[in-house]
Amino acid sequence: MSPASRKPLHNPRARHGYQGRACSILAVGSYVPARVLTNADLEKMVATSDEWIRTRTGIRERRLAAPDEATSDLAAHAARKALANAGLAPEAVDLIITATVTPDMPFPSTACLVQEKIGARRAAAFDVEAACSGFIYGLEIGQQFVMSRTCETVLVIGAEKLSSIVDWTDRNTCVLFGDGAGAAVLQHRPGAHGLLTTCLGADGGKGHVLCVPGGGSRLPSSVETVHRRQHFIRMDGRETFKNAVQAMYAAAREALDRCQLDIARIACIIPHQANRRIIDAVAERLGARPEQLFVNVDRYGNTSAASVAIALDEAVSSGRVQRGDLILLVVFGAGFTWGAAIIEW
Ligand code: UT7
Repeated sequence: MSPASRKPLHNPRARHGYQGRACSILAVGSYVPARVLTNADLEKMVATSDEWIRTRTGIRERRLAAPDEATSDLAAHAARKALANAGLAPEAVDLIITATVTPDMPFPSTACLVQEKIGARRAAAFDVEAACSGFIYGLEIGQQFVMSRTCETVLVIGAEKLSSIVDWTDRNTCVLFGDGAGAAVLQHRPGAHGLLTTCLGADGGKGHVLCVPGGGSRLPSSVETVHRRQHFIRMDGRETFKNAVQAMYAAAREALDRCQLDIARIACIIPHQANRRIIDAVAERLGARPEQLFVNVDRYGNTSAASVAIALDEAVSSGRVQRGDLILLVVFGAGFTWGAAIIEW
């Protein structure tokens, strides 16, 4: 263990004189649907190649939900696993926050549908929409409820059925995305720092760069919007890439600085899994070693709000992360939105 890793943890919340309870992640869980869509499968659908997809993105395959499986179904599976790992009954949950851009329907919220599916009768429930950054936005909101003693137990879920908004004729986007869900149970854990800091940001001026233009109040669903394929994801890939690297680096740097931490002290960096090249570029700027990174983009592609939630669960369940380790989560998505969080596991 290096001398740096023995230094006591600096808690930025204490610096601001905040007296609330610390909020920890008690347990996590995730779920990915069974159907695997490989790059070879995509070669039969659009003008692409396994070689192009692997070298430009690092993705080898992604999961697709079944036609009768909606986002709330994926979310409920992940939520049940997280609660089981926490040793809690659904009735213990006070609040469910679901981050998603692919809700089952405009309303009711997916969180309400999950509440019913898992039997969390006592829980309040609402959705958060911050695209791929949604899980970290949800963590920060959930933590506020725990720190202020408004709630004992908060369930934060990131869940997406992106296959329902992907244009399967557009090779620029259809090779990138997948379906899945991850969930975290938040509580105060005596003696633990838990979520040390969360840095969130947004730039609404770049909303057009990555969006689904149709189906809302601006362009309500009509025969024309369907013909113009306006209900599918549209993205300027290069512009998104450039902004992702800059914003993820800046958010991670700010989170580390707030906690007075050197990157070497982080046991596991869990970046948004959109593109291996983005992950490597951010890691290089941060001065991180490759072995600090947790990467599963090769198996799932970009699952938006579910991305870091699934990765966190895999890092924990595989033993890659141990209690007491420091984790850096860092995300970027449509909006643009971004965020970073440092967690003492
Ligand atoms: O969650 C946050 C949101 N998403 C992201 O963070 C994704 C950010 N962007 C990216 O990951 C990358 O920009 C992409 C993977 C989307 C694209 O990679 P790129 O290296 O930026 O490629 P490009 O857009 O500059 O396209 C290069 C070429 C183009 O052909 P021309 O114009 O040079 O002839 C594209 O038409 O590659 C072509 N291309 C493809 N070729 C084969 C684009 N998609 C494909 C494809 N297969 N699937």
